[in-house]
Amino acid sequence: MPVFSHAAMLHGADYNPDQWLDYPDVLEADLELMEKAGVNCVSLGIFAWARLEPREGQYDFAWMREIVDKLRGRGVYTILATPTAAKPNWMSEKYEEVRRVDKNGRRDMSGGRHNHCYTSPVYREKTAKINAALAGEFGSHPGVILWHISNEYGGECYCPLCAEAFRAWLREKYGTLERLNHEWWSHFWSHTFTEWEHIHPPMPHGEMCINGHCLDWKRFVTRQTADFMKAEVAALREGGSALPVTANLMGFYNGLDYFKFAPLLDIVSWDNYPTWHDENPDELAVPAFTALTHDLMRGVGDGKPFLLMESTPSMTNWKPTSRPKRPGMHMLSSMQALAHGSDSVQYFQWRKSRGSCEKFHGAVVDHCGRSDHRVFTDVARLGARLQGLSAVTGSRVPARVALVYDWENRWALEGAQGPRNMGIHYLETLAEHHRPFWEMGINTDVRDMSGDISGYDLVIAPMLYMYRAGFARKLAAFTRGGGTLVGTYWSGVVNENDLCYLGPRPGEGMAEVFGVRAEEIDSLYDSQRNSFTYEGESYRLSELCELVATEGAEPLAVYGQDFYAGRPALTRCGHGKGTAYYIAAKPEARFLKAFYARLADTLNLRPPIVPAVPCGVELTRRKAEGGREYWFFQNFTREGISVELRFPLYNAETGEEASRAELKPYESGVYTDTAP
Ligand code: GLA
Ligand code: ZN
Repeated sequence: MPVFSHAAMLHGADYNPDQWLDYPDVLEADLELMEKAGVNCVSLGIFAWARLEPREGQYDFAWMREIVDKLRGRGVYTILATPTAAKPNWMSEKYEEVRRVDKNGRRDMSGGRHNHCYTSPVYREKTAKINAALAGEFGSHPGVILWHISNEYGGECYCPLCAEAFRAWLREKYGTLERLNHEWWSHFWSHTFTEWEHIHPPMPHGEMCINGHCLDWKRFVTRQTADFMKAEVAALREGGSALPVTANLMGFYNGLDYFKFAPLLDIVSWDNYPTWHDENPDELAVPAFTALTHDLMRGVGDGKPFLLMESTPSMTNWKPTSRPKRPGMHMLSSMQALAHGSDSVQYFQWRKSRGSCEKFHGAVVDHCGRSDHRVFTDVARLGARLQGLSAVTGSRVPARVALVYDWENRWALEGAQGPRNMGIHYLETLAEHHRPFWEMGINTDVRDMSGDISGYDLVIAPMLYMYRAGFARKLAAFTRGGGTLVGTYWSGVVNENDLCYLGPRPGEGMAEVFGVRAEEIDSLYDSQRNSFTYEGESYRLSELCELVATEGAEPLAVYGQDFYAGRPALTRCGHGKGTAYYIAAKPEARFLKAFYARLADTLNLRPPIVPAVPCGVELTRRKAEGGREYWFFQNFTREGISVELRFPLYNAETGEEASRAELKPYESGVYTDTAP
């Protein structure tokens, strides 16, 4: 697999000259403006299929070559897209099968984007041809550094071709209908399958009651999308290009299991659009959740640096309302990506379209075309700063804490009826467990159940309802080998086919590891509360309260109310040097803060360079191959903050020695341990 590496931080944008071919002066101005903005990289041709193949089988790459050449002449690299994210009208009108069928069985008309059928042989053939042709034309162009495969893969297709492929995949997975009927528990309600042809994708007017069926459909969608991507990459290779590939992912997007994409990508990239300056009085909720999402995307790439492929330099146009970034926020939010392992800051989009539905989406260049626009100058300032941070490129974000997040678990957990149909809040819960570490300045990795957890000191696995095959064994080995494990209510309920464990819960021996046996779960209405007292403080519990019996664990806190008052709500079970904690109910954030602060002290996880991380400051660490460390300080508050350092560091940008990190409102600083 080719390795993507680059000596400098990439800075640039999605560039859509295909919209501007009739405006040569605009294209000329773009080159000037890119230089002024400190742009060294663009993503080109993402939606350019109709310009690249204006008529079936007739390619026109001349305009693109001219642009790639000119960009190179100005020192701007190209990340070249395969154009498959939007199909030309000539194709979708001629070949009905390339258009998706929605879950109600209705076929799309032409239009939109991100809506091709990923099974259609016609679409695959057209894709293979244009990808191979592009690879032949640009695959060894010195200006092109990376392939951008399609754009934001997502969505589902319920057409007959996809349904057939689903059945074929099920046959391969289960072998026999007897086995499928068992694993799907389809004798329930007499839904037994006697012919493969009787199986359809889950649709609202059809079968939606077999949880295993719904789960397998989601797995199939990931599989089929990844298979389509594999075919895209194969065509590039056939066309003669050995360049590395990426696909731009979408954080916690629920439609695809990105961990299954990672092996196909040379580098992960993602599109980040936090809702800065929203109505939430807790202004730190957005940066904290964004931090978690960066950690997830880095985790998908197995901890390697990733690329921030899209972000807006100012505002989006698709949220309920569009707020520009306040002064300073563009720099800060971009530096946050670097702080979590990104080796780029790229935008959607370079220039605002003149018409159509994205014409009011933020861009580096506004309709006025000026370089003294506030947004442009913010971008240019960042461009200059990134140049000074080239040495950070390629460094890792070492972490001793892992948070387990797993898409299949999420699908199963959220897809089950009960125990809390009014909101089971898996993502919110993850965010609540992540935030204390964010506040303490402790790097955190996000891993799914296929990941290796053996090297961490602390593994947190909230609401791990499903144990995929082999994961419980990893958790047990981790704990018995001296690790600290934190698990919660509603864990180890089902196996990987969504069948409940018969016997003690959490299943697969984990009841023994936690030293508890879960018996019942109480699901509260939103206004209802329970409580427990931990280390002299009382904390509110809400939403889910599990009734557990201890079998080897010691209770650290007990329920304060209701018929289960006095029963354990928080437990600890020792295994030599290892420990397994079980949090039986959903506690308020204040508890998690206190609980994890204590664990951080016990396990010595806190960053050694500061006595404390002030509220609103994010602190992360990157480590370069030679061992040099970079500490990223970010002030997400509207107040100036001065952070005391335990020992002097060097400002990585100015080289000055510092005994404090002085941060103005929204300011970030990068410090290093050795004189630059
Ligand atoms: C996505 C797409 C882009 C653009 C932006 C707008 O990330 O990939 O093409 O539509 O959204 O925010
Ligand atoms: Zn289809």
